[in-house]
Amino acid sequence: MTDQDVRTLVESHLATIPDFPEPGILFRDLTPVFADGPAFHALSEALTEPFAGRFDVLAGVEARGFLLAGAASVLSGAGVLPVRKAGKLPRKVLREEYALEYGTAALEVHEGELPPGTRVLVVDDVLATGGTVGAAARLVERAGWQVAGIAVAIELVDLGGREALGDRYEIFSLLQY
Ligand code: PRP
Repeated sequence: MTDQDVRTLVESHLATIPDFPEPGILFRDLTPVFADGPAFHALSEALTEPFAGRFDVLAGVEARGFLLAGAASVLSGAGVLPVRKAGKLPRKVLREEYALEYGTAALEVHEGELPPGTRVLVVDDVLATGGTVGAAARLVERAGWQVAGIAVAIELVDLGGREALGDRYEIFSLLQY
């Protein structure tokens, strides 16, 4: 399947909802893509393909990033590092805060979960302002692992996430809006 075939298949299942979660926002809903076997398979495979041979573990960001990292893990043979919202992990954690529209949120990983130098590909559903995957990438680095790159299904270009993250990381997005 060519990249364009994958984009066409995924896009054919993507739902676009006006005025959600608030007026003026056009929400891109991946749940129909997750619900379709061939589309979910193709999306999960496409996220790791540009980084083939260059990662050991997929870091899935809670919550929708878990689905994509889990599926891509089975397809690629790499393990999964769950990057969780604050307060969920039972052992000693590293925490990174990031800005939301109102206030802040935090992501956590277990310290020492992976061997030093492990190459970690950060996976999430959407790149918007870049706050979320940026925090995940900082966690990977602070933990002593390497960021192999960032892979997302959808990039909301006008929100400037790619620029905010700078040229520090290789970023792949399947669909851009
Ligand atoms: C959404 C989305 C990304 C993030 C992208 O997550 O799933 O993780 O926002 O936005 P950003 O680039 O501006 O940080 P949300 O915080 O809604 O959490 P959820 O996946 O648990 O619903």
